[in-house]
Amino acid sequence: MPGLDDATRGRLLFGGDYNPEQWPEETWHEDVRLMKAARVNSVTLGVFSWSKLEPEPGAREFGWLDTLMDLLHEHGIGVVLATPTSSPPPWMGRLHPDTLPVTEDGRTEWWGGRQHFSHSSATYRRYAAAITEDLAARYAGHPALTMWHINNEYCTADHGDEAAAAFRRWLRARYGTLDALNTAWGTAFWSQGYDTWDGILPPRLPHYMRNPTQVLDFRRFTSDMLLECYAAERDIVRRHTPHLPVTSNFMPLFLGQDAWRWAEEEDVVSVDLYPDPRDPLGAQHGALVQDMTRSQARGPWMLMEQAAGPVNWRGVNHPKPRGLNRLWSLQAVARGADAVCFFQWRQSRQGAEKFHSGMVSHAGEEGRTFQEVKQLGADLERIAPETAGRHVTAGVAVLHDWHSWWAGTQDGRLSGEVDYPDVLRAWHRALWQAHLTSDFAHPEHDLTPYPVVVAPQLYALTDAAIGNLLAYVRQGGTLVCGFQTGVADQDDRVRPGGMDARLRELFGIRTLHEWWPLDAGESVACEGFGATLWSEEIEAGEADEVIPYRGGELDGLPAILRRGRAWYVSTLPEPGALRDLLAGIAAGAGVGPVLDGLPGQVEAVRRGELLFLLHHGREPVTVEVPGTHHDLLTGTDVTDRVTLGRYGAAVLRP
Ligand code: GAL
Repeated sequence: MPGLDDATRGRLLFGGDYNPEQWPEETWHEDVRLMKAARVNSVTLGVFSWSKLEPEPGAREFGWLDTLMDLLHEHGIGVVLATPTSSPPPWMGRLHPDTLPVTEDGRTEWWGGRQHFSHSSATYRRYAAAITEDLAARYAGHPALTMWHINNEYCTADHGDEAAAAFRRWLRARYGTLDALNTAWGTAFWSQGYDTWDGILPPRLPHYMRNPTQVLDFRRFTSDMLLECYAAERDIVRRHTPHLPVTSNFMPLFLGQDAWRWAEEEDVVSVDLYPDPRDPLGAQHGALVQDMTRSQARGPWMLMEQAAGPVNWRGVNHPKPRGLNRLWSLQAVARGADAVCFFQWRQSRQGAEKFHSGMVSHAGEEGRTFQEVKQLGADLERIAPETAGRHVTAGVAVLHDWHSWWAGTQDGRLSGEVDYPDVLRAWHRALWQAHLTSDFAHPEHDLTPYPVVVAPQLYALTDAAIGNLLAYVRQGGTLVCGFQTGVADQDDRVRPGGMDARLRELFGIRTLHEWWPLDAGESVACEGFGATLWSEEIEAGEADEVIPYRGGELDGLPAILRRGRAWYVSTLPEPGALRDLLAGIAAGAGVGPVLDGLPGQVEAVRRGELLFLLHHGREPVTVEVPGTHHDLLTGTDVTDRVTLGRYGAAVLRP
């Protein structure tokens, strides 16, 4: 199978979404001039071009795209060509209302925005396949073409009638018989037993809480249907260009797609990443998404979109202060990206995103944004030869599973304060702040390469996953699990005893009496630290070590238990405590920080032979780096220490 290296060929890709159909042809020439000046070597064309390519049903207008493909090729700029299928032309909805998705309360999502397509619509799929076929046939041999980009941020759900029929088919394939479905869904509760497949619907708006397993299966179904749409287009382009890689861009930590499953179907894993420049933890959010994407890719990955300045979809949208765009771009490279791309090349003057930044902002060539983009292009070119294709090594794996997330976010749970992504972020942040590089893994993956595995919140676990965790510890791994691990099975059925018996034994828990969720802002004292969000009334069994709750109802009962190399943390320790706990456990398992003695705001990552140092603060800091190193960014040697200025970075080769 082709991979990202077939497109990079030893370079780091640099560029972004290019939407020239919004501009007159003179601007295209200006664009390529500026692209060359910024050392842009890759652009993504055609993401939202469907109505331009097919202005009426069956018509084909490829001339403008031919001109652009040729123009870009003449200037040595490669093209990631997108199938335009995420935003069907208005005629499609008008002539074929069956292509429009329906919300849970029966409202149609109309054209006039984007992503108004039903994954289950046979009509939509037929048109999508046809335009993909013609696009692929036309450009298969074009020398500018380097990669395919299918659709864009697949994310729609559909509760309409055609989707209902598809849901039933999907359920039949999963369960075989109605009995099996009734059992899995627990339909004995609230008189929900189904006597015919035709009675089953997507989870449309009910009077009161929904059946949680129906909702869980609907999420699985939705992810699978979108994946089917992706795979259908992928197979078409593959037939024309078996030598070129195919991707579809993920949204970071997005609820709607099982990205582990999706990544297996992609040649290149790509993601869109937009941390808030004002968020003090924006850099950590970036690191988390980058670590997750790298893990899905099992190697180098593509940053498909980021913003050179502000986005325009938050309540208040802040620009990036000077230097931050470069720093966060280098962070992505440090954490394994072989492509640093933006949405979008030139900031629009019209449409819903006219206040969203571009690499060329409204201020134009002289604007600070473009000037910084130019500097970034030069930096990336400088470090590329020793960076591209190299791997990042991690001693810790963070477990994450969409199905567990889906099961854990249902109505009717004990605390609406517990937010899965927040818990995941808290644990990843603890590792990040301890300068421990982490990968992400699925609970059924081979975990043996990692001395330490942490599971922030795997509420639902399959038997296979539980078996995998037990085997991992048996084989010498150190496992740290957060609260509510292994409560439910794959059908969101609570396991006897409130936590799987094998796991209780693993952690040295005799009885889990009650869960004690905490209110927003409430904290609970534990021996030596405070904790928030959640607590549990546990009676220890054969634990080797117990750190107790102090005071209150749970006084003296275990907050943290350890049995052998298995730890259970029944609450969310405050950030510093979680950092110290995980750093201590990792040290015990022989896993240390990337570099000792790092200042707080400096992030360090090793990629291949290189040590990336990234300074997230504005005041200069000095970092001790024993020995002599060559800084690829400045081209100079540094000995024993390096000083980093505001948002500064160094890329050191020993
Ligand atoms: C992404 C999308 C782009 C653009 C961008 C704005 O979600 O793929 O087309 O809308 O957001 O931040």
